[in-house]
Amino acid sequence: MKRLLLIGVGAGDPEQLTIQAVKALNRADVFFLLDKGSSKTKLLDLRREICERYVENRDFRVVEAELPERERGVADYAGSVVDLNAAKQALFEQLIDEHVAEGECGAFLVWGDPALYDSSIRILDAILASGRLSFDYEVIPGITSVQALAARHRIALNHIGGAVQITTGRRLAREGMPAGVQDVVVMLDAQDSYTGLRGQDLEIFWGAYVGTPDELLIAGRLDEVAERIRETRLAAREANGWIMDTYLLRKAED
Ligand SMILES: C[S@@+](CC[C@H](N)C(=O)[O-])C[C@H]1O[C@@H](n2cnc3c(N)ncnc32)[C@H](O)[C@@H]1O
Repeated sequence: MKRLLLIGVGAGDPEQLTIQAVKALNRADVFFLLDKGSSKTKLLDLRREICERYVENRDFRVVEAELPERERGVADYAGSVVDLNAAKQALFEQLIDEHVAEGECGAFLVWGDPALYDSSIRILDAILASGRLSFDYEVIPGITSVQALAARHRIALNHIGGAVQITTGRRLAREGMPAGVQDVVVMLDAQDSYTGLRGQDLEIFWGAYVGTPDELLIAGRLDEVAERIRETRLAAREANGWIMDTYLLRKAED
């Protein structure tokens, strides 16, 4: 039987790996390092560094592949996501089929935690359901970018006994602040959705490239810092060619 590991490797700081993740790394014969486009070489470098730093006295192979990207600007967003997932599944299938021999263990290094806005679990389940390949797989949790953000700003995510919602920039732009929730974490925001929530007495705790040497942090009343975040974000994206940022929004306390 082939064995696969989905290992959460944290959100950018190689020291965020858990001991369980390090032990899992040391069981792998082959590592799959997947990323989108050459602009993300820094993310690939970090994963390579993780393998070199934590795998001890063990030969391993590294297979790098480019993840397909969603077609931008198409009217049918849901359809473009279905196409993207099909392309990702085909890639995973090919990698597992060609690079993991029977009895071997292959590892996918997953950014943050595999349970949060990551399709790897769904993809492996879909491959198993298709019956085209057979393998066992295990999920090793990692530190999410949400935890990393909260730690860097030294904040708790929730008010005492309160609910927290994690959502996307796309949803925030469409639906505004969700009703009945005091704290909202926003991920995958390519469109500065927070700028549309000015005038609602909110506070924001924003972070980009959290845990990496390029880390940027800004916090304050949304009305006062939104423009600074927008400009900082734009400049950083232009300088690096990509950006990953997350933020917490909450009702301002007087
Ligand atoms: C596809 S999701 C992956 C989330 C990941 N599985 C996790 O547990 O954090 C990508 C989004 O995660 C967030 N993200 C990931 N790494 C980050 C970092 N180092 N700093 C800030 N946000 C990050 C951004 O919102 C980005 O758009």
